[in-house]
Amino acid sequence: MTAFRTLDDAGPLQGKRVLLRVDLNVPMEGGRVTDATRIERIVPTINEIAGKGGRVVLLAHFGRPKGKPVAAESLKPVVETLSRKLGRPVAFAEDCVGSAAADAVARLQDGDVALLENTRFHAGEEQNDRAFAEQLATNGDLYVNEAFSAAHRAHGSTEGLARVLPAYAGRELQAELEALTKGLEAPQRPVIALVGGAKVSSKIDLLENLVAKVDMLVIGGGMANTFLHAQGKAVGKSLCEKD
Ligand code: 3PG
Repeated sequence: MTAFRTLDDAGPLQGKRVLLRVDLNVPMEGGRVTDATRIERIVPTINEIAGKGGRVVLLAHFGRPKGKPVAAESLKPVVETLSRKLGRPVAFAEDCVGSAAADAVARLQDGDVALLENTRFHAGEEQNDRAFAEQLATNGDLYVNEAFSAAHRAHGSTEGLARVLPAYAGRELQAELEALTKGLEAPQRPVIALVGGAKVSSKIDLLENLVAKVDMLVIGGGMANTFLHAQGKAVGKSLCEKD
């Protein structure tokens, strides 16, 4: 397995500010979370860090606001569900950098949790701008990535920060990497991969990589239509990336 560091390598967390990148891109309707699965999956890691006396500073994106603040893509409405699932209060900062973030982080006591506003409100996030990552880094002593489902994007809070601060995998990311290693690096054959999702365009590199490693690749979800279309089959009005 490609070596990576986990929370077990992070040393004592008491009093440390832990910048924890999570995926809070959750389904919402009318300002309420309608599927809390992603939130539930990060609870153990947050509670582990907080339980060890770390000060948890959550970084996440929501939607695709394209580098500027968009009220409808604020992470604020997520706080209520997050706090309920964690069983502890979650402070919120109206920005992920600057004085709003710094003040919220300065107020944290050991074991407290704060969520910073959508990282994609800044162009530097998607540009993976070093200066932006350095601004984010001012609020942490170490960086933990727990956002496997956003880890395919080299953005400031997913890739850039790991170059600026000591970086570790969270428990969910660790479990995903271990499962991938088991399935792809030394598998018991035959190996079948099932891949779902809406967009081929965001997964084509992954599919090309997988197809060289597995004995059978099963495509499901909306993106199956794109393959059917390519084979000349009619897909009607179903989701399909014809280009
Ligand atoms: C997702 O919901 O698939 C992840 O959060 C990544 O979101 P993105 O496709 O907007 O980068």
